[in-house]
Amino acid sequence: MTATDTGFTRVGPVTDLTVGEGRTYVVDGQQVAVFLMSDGSVRALGARCPHKGGPIADGQTDTTKVMCPLHQYTFSFDDGRCTNGTDIDALPVFQAKVHDGQIHIWT
Ligand code: FES
Repeated sequence: MTATDTGFTRVGPVTDLTVGEGRTYVVDGQQVAVFLMSDGSVRALGARCPHKGGPIADGQTDTTKVMCPLHQYTFSFDDGRCTNGTDIDALPVFQAKVHDGQIHIWT
């Protein structure tokens, strides 16, 4: 379910997410990988790896980055940059927040 409001899209309840696992949502026609962090915040990056299209939402995470499951390039949650490869484009980063139990994404 999506509901567009002033500048953000509500994609669903945060209870749909599990810490350490990502989930892909379509927001304004863009695939966005959303991750729940252990502190209850959410982070959002483009869902398609710029290397060869791997599913970013299926990657392993720590508090700062996600690792693409296909070839193990890692991408920063802060700026989307690849942290272990020099010729890999950055992923788009989206502002994401939890408000009243709902995930809000700005695209
Ligand atoms: S497709 Fe993501 S690292 Fe290769």
